[in-house]
Amino acid sequence: MSKGTALITGASSGIGAELAALCAAGGYDLVLVARSAEKLAELAAGLSRAHGIAARPLAADLADPAAAQAIFEQTRGDTIEILINNAGFGVLGPYAETDWAAEARLLQVNIVALTHLTKLYLPEMLRRRSGRILNVGSTAAFVPGPFMAMYYASKAFVVSFSHAIANEVNGSGVTVTVLCPGPTLTGFSEAAGTSESKLFQGSAMSAAEVARDGYRAMMAGKAEVISGARNRWMMLGTRLAPRTMLAGIARRLNST
Ligand SMILES: NC(=O)c1ccc[n+]([C@@H]2O[C@H](COP(=O)([O-])OP(=O)(O)OC[C@H]3O[C@@H](n4cnc5c(N)ncnc54)[C@H](OP(=O)(O)O)[C@@H]3O)[C@@H](O)[C@H]2O)c1
Repeated sequence: MSKGTALITGASSGIGAELAALCAAGGYDLVLVARSAEKLAELAAGLSRAHGIAARPLAADLADPAAAQAIFEQTRGDTIEILINNAGFGVLGPYAETDWAAEARLLQVNIVALTHLTKLYLPEMLRRRSGRILNVGSTAAFVPGPFMAMYYASKAFVVSFSHAIANEVNGSGVTVTVLCPGPTLTGFSEAAGTSESKLFQGSAMSAAEVARDGYRAMMAGKAEVISGARNRWMMLGTRLAPRTMLAGIARRLNST
C-alpha cells in the first residue's frame, strides 16, 4: 500500500532528482514539478518502474505567481504526505548591474512559491496529524553574499521561515526540516554562472550525498541539517565572526 505522495519541486535535476529517487525507494508515490516536462516524464517513468510506485510529472514554472495554486488544484485527489520545496536558482553579479527581471523570478521561485506551497499543503497535513516538509536552503543563508546578494538573502529567508514553522507545528505530527547544502555538483553553478568562482573550485559534494542527508533529517523530523562535516564546521564559525568579515570572505569566494 502506498505511504502517500511526495511532491517535489525542482525534481528534473540535481538534488531534487536525487530526493525523488529516495522518496520512491521509501515507497512514496511521486508528483514531480519543474519546467522541463520531458526530463520529468523520463524520471517519473524510470522511478515508477524501478520502485513500483505511481509517479507523474507536473510541468510548471514556479516564477509564475499562479503556479502554486495551480499545482495544488492538480493534486487535490492526492494525499501529500511529503512536500519538498527544492526548486531554486541564483543570479550572479554586482547588484547595481544584475537584471531585475531575473531577480524578481528568483524571489518568486526561491521564496514566494515555497511559502505559498507550504500554506496550501500544511493545513491538510495538520488535520491528518501526519506529514513532512523539507525546504532546501543553503549554507549561503548564514552569510551576506556580495555578487549574489539576492540569492544569499533568499536562502536566509528560507532558513528563518522553516525554523519558525517547525516550531509552530511542534507536537502536531507534522515536521518541517531545512536542508542547507554547501557547494554541490549540479546544474546550479552553470545556471548561476558561478562554475568558475572560488567557491566551486574548492571541494563540492555530490547531489546524491546532499539528498541523502536531507532525506534522513526529514524522516527523523529534525529542524535543520547542514550537509557535510566541512560545511558544518564552517557554519559554526559564522556564528562568531562579524557580518562585515563574513561578507568579505563571501565576496572573495563568489569571485573568479
Ligand atoms: N548546487 C549547489 O551548490 C547548491 C548549494 C546550496 C543550495 N542549493 C539549492 O539546492 C536546490 C536545488 O538546486 P540544484 O543544486 O539541484 O540545482 P539544479 O540542478 O539547477 O536544479 C534546480 C531545479 O530547480 C528547477 N527550477 C528552476 N527554476 C524553476 C522554475 N522557474 N520553475 C520550476 N522549477 C524550477 C529546475 O528545473 P527546470 O529547469 O526544469 O525548471 C531544477 O529541477 C536549489 O534550491 C538551490 O538553491 C544548491
